[in-house]
Amino acid sequence: MGTIDHLTGLLPARMRSQLGAYAEAVGLLTEMRDPRVLASLGPSGVRGLILQRGKQNGHSLVPTQNTAHFDWRYPNDHPEMRELYTRAKHGQWDADTAIPWHIDVDPLDYDVPILPEGFLDIGQLAEAGVRLDRAETARFLYSITSWMLSQFLHGEQGALFAAAQVTEAVPFFDGKLYGSTQVMDEGRHVEVFHRYLDEKLNKVYKINDNLFVIIDALMRDSRWDMKFLGMQIMVEGLALGAFGTLYRLTKEPVLRQLLKMVIQDEARHVHYGVLALRDHFAKNLSDAERREREDWTFEVALLMRNRFMAWEVYEEWAEGTMSRNRWKYFVMNSPGMEEFRTVMFSRLVPNLRAIGLLSKRMLPHYERVGLLKYMNGASADQLTAEKMLTDLDEAGGRVVD
Ligand SMILES: [Fe+2]
Ligand SMILES: [Fe+2]
Repeated sequence: MGTIDHLTGLLPARMRSQLGAYAEAVGLLTEMRDPRVLASLGPSGVRGLILQRGKQNGHSLVPTQNTAHFDWRYPNDHPEMRELYTRAKHGQWDADTAIPWHIDVDPLDYDVPILPEGFLDIGQLAEAGVRLDRAETARFLYSITSWMLSQFLHGEQGALFAAAQVTEAVPFFDGKLYGSTQVMDEGRHVEVFHRYLDEKLNKVYKINDNLFVIIDALMRDSRWDMKFLGMQIMVEGLALGAFGTLYRLTKEPVLRQLLKMVIQDEARHVHYGVLALRDHFAKNLSDAERREREDWTFEVALLMRNRFMAWEVYEEWAEGTMSRNRWKYFVMNSPGMEEFRTVMFSRLVPNLRAIGLLSKRMLPHYERVGLLKYMNGASADQLTAEKMLTDLDEAGGRVVD
């Protein structure tokens, strides 16, 4: 155990958590090497990590400042978006009838596990002093599952509001029609994740501070393309990776069907993001604006890779026994999280290529953090949801299930 960990271990739990949150915030701010990225994400870092605005009173007020773009000529200005709009209309579904809610779910049932035991390396916990018997392991996995699904739910609320903002702000009229379907989709996603957590798991966690930072930053940014980049490409890419991994691993039929339906919608959302940004970045950006977006994207990719550490579960199960660093190592190296990162980046990196953000200048950075290997995969405009689901059904993952 490090000296700092040892000393903080002597403090009361509440103070220790506060110190941990400060350390996270300082870590976030020092990781941002580009001053413009720091200027754009830093204030959200303070609100999310230090002030914990996502965790107080059960609600958060986030002032926004985007500009609504009206067009009274109603042009047919983007045939691919129009086509996506048509597909989205046909793809609508009703959460009441599309998901088998009548099936009972027991999150502690060994025979129908929501997450396979191999998702985490429980042996590592024991080595660090957190020894769990079989029943406790099942309860621990239940905590992790509820935590993950709660973050999906909170992310979907962010997606709902961001989709509404983007619909106002986007300059393509066909994009606005399409956007209206995404607002409906995201509303439905909030509905189904909340219903699953509330009726089947009976456990909802508060929003993770790092997720709050990303949502806060992109809700406040006044530039429509930054919202797009943040939500449609990065957060939706993260969500698709997570939903895909869980869809592949879970044996629980209600959740599996829920994820299958949601993945089909999300595939359209990322496709829309790629279409809008590919054209905009190719035509309208100055060199400085392009560099800013390249740097921002890289930092947010690292944020997503390094910072979803389930601290809320740590505080419940391991605080006081296991150091924060050890926990971080445990989460980073758990087979399920590794698989989740692989699925996420194998989807995300080709999309960054498709919208033109993997410039020569950026390639060495992606290489350094081991992400360049995903460069040549299919981007969202080259993939259908059916293909994505078949790939997941056939994929051989690292997790033993
Ligand atoms: Fe969604
Ligand atoms: Fe979405």
